[in-house]
Amino acid sequence: MSDISQAQPTYNYKVVRQFTVMTIVWGIIGMGLGVFIAAQLFAPALNFDLPWLTFSRLRPLHTNAVIFAFGGSALFATSYYVVQRTSQVRLFSDKLAAFTFWGWQAVIVAAIITLPLGMTSSKEYAELEWPIDILIALVWIAYCINFFGTIVIRKVSHIYVANWFYGAFILTVMILHIGNSMAIPVSFTKSYSLYAGAVDAMMQWWYGHNAVGFFLTAGFLGMMYYFVPKQAGRPVYSYRLSIVHFWALISLYIWAGPHHLHYTALPDWTQSLGMVMSVILFVPSWGGMINGIMTLSGAWHKLRTDPVLRFLVVSLTFYGMSTFEGPMMAIKTVNALSHYTDWTIGHVHSGALGWVAMISIGSVYHLIPHLFGQRAMYSTRLVNVHFWLATIGVVLYIVAMWFSGVLQGLMWRAVNADGTLTYSFVESLEASKPYYVVRFIGGCFVVAGMLVMAYNAYRTIKAPKGSIAADPATQPA
Ligand code: HEM
Ligand code: HEM
Repeated sequence: MSDISQAQPTYNYKVVRQFTVMTIVWGIIGMGLGVFIAAQLFAPALNFDLPWLTFSRLRPLHTNAVIFAFGGSALFATSYYVVQRTSQVRLFSDKLAAFTFWGWQAVIVAAIITLPLGMTSSKEYAELEWPIDILIALVWIAYCINFFGTIVIRKVSHIYVANWFYGAFILTVMILHIGNSMAIPVSFTKSYSLYAGAVDAMMQWWYGHNAVGFFLTAGFLGMMYYFVPKQAGRPVYSYRLSIVHFWALISLYIWAGPHHLHYTALPDWTQSLGMVMSVILFVPSWGGMINGIMTLSGAWHKLRTDPVLRFLVVSLTFYGMSTFEGPMMAIKTVNALSHYTDWTIGHVHSGALGWVAMISIGSVYHLIPHLFGQRAMYSTRLVNVHFWLATIGVVLYIVAMWFSGVLQGLMWRAVNADGTLTYSFVESLEASKPYYVVRFIGGCFVVAGMLVMAYNAYRTIKAPKGSIAADPATQPA
């Protein structure tokens, strides 16, 4: 595209490049860990009797690595890129940008060291101990200043809708993290939450659910609103719908947390409120998905030839699926069946792998040639291979988890005529085993795809600048 040479001297692409490369690196590590713990669930001997290789310690490392290291790096990279391009100005501060990059990598390395050692606050998705929490807060405040600082000094009066989503994600995650991580340290490696009992649970899931809503959703919607139109070469289907989408989504998500605490000590009315808000959340979620998919109006034919666009569009269909499934699971009677089962794990990964990972991968494929002075990826065929590996892998994963989840739920609640349980817990585990093997195979497909991506990215980055010609199939009209 003609703007490559003009744009590079003005914008801070260094930090975008750094985060983009680390997205791929952490993606491979985080998803590789996912495959390893998936194998442990049908072959427990794989913990080799070493405490730091047990499922209990590696599981939070997996979630931290995929959400914060992989997803986080993708969000940093794309938000820094998008805010500069759409504001037509360089980042507010290069120093703060460098601090966010190195600070964030330090957080991840600290997670890789402390979690296998068993140091944990035991709050899901917020397991890291207090010194690391402080570093996260500092990095996030710097990110906030840099992002909004750039908006303030922008050269165009309009604030493009992608920045609204990125902005909401950055601001809310800062508040959530600081609010939920309040703790009293008792040593350098141990602290206790400031909250207790049901209040602690409520705080935790206010954080946990909004980590889903803002970290895993709003930020990636920012990606959607920039990269889908760019890759399709079409304007957003409805700008008006995107604004309605934004306000509806952010005002609803914040109330839905209690659906993680159905049938607990939480007051019943809060559970019901969480349920109702979750069901309503279906509407803006689908509004946004439809807005993204309909952006392809007039460009549908490109799906046949452009695997990058396919990544972006398939991610939106998974977004639609998981935001249909989520509200359904939030209904108390459905949750009575799904809770504690692999159905939840299937839902998580249809959102996390299908939506979050695929939109990130599509966006990174769009970014790499732009950032490294090329007109296309080294091999569009390899992007296509990756697309199919990822799609087949995700489908195997989530279908296996739906089967095993519903099976578990039904087996646990089955009772004989005399009121005794029909199945023991171990029988339900035995029944789940084949599905765990299928999930593992699906995971291997996904990781194989990431390795193909790493090779393709390496060849693109290493090729002499401008030597890779544009692939007509992937160019916007
Ligand atoms: C190769 C790909 C992946 C594999 C094989 C995989 C595997 C796993 C496994 C085995 C678990 C534990 C399930 C259990 O406790 O029963 C898990 C949990 C989880 N994974 Fe993954 N995962 C992958 C990719 C991802 C990605 C890309 C994300 C996010 C962006 C993600 C987010 C999560 C979350 C949030 C949980 C915790 C779910 C819960 O507590 O309900 N995973 N994953
Ligand atoms: C309208 C949107 C959504 C609603 C209403 C919703 C609702 C739910 C419900 C009811 C649960 C099960 C809670 C339980 O039984 O413990 C759940 C779990 C989860 N969902 Fe969603 N979901 C939505 C979208 C998403 C998306 C798009 C993602 C990922 C990108 C996602 C990630 C998760 C995660 C990580 C969990 C597991 C939390 C845990 O127990 O560790 N959700 N969601």
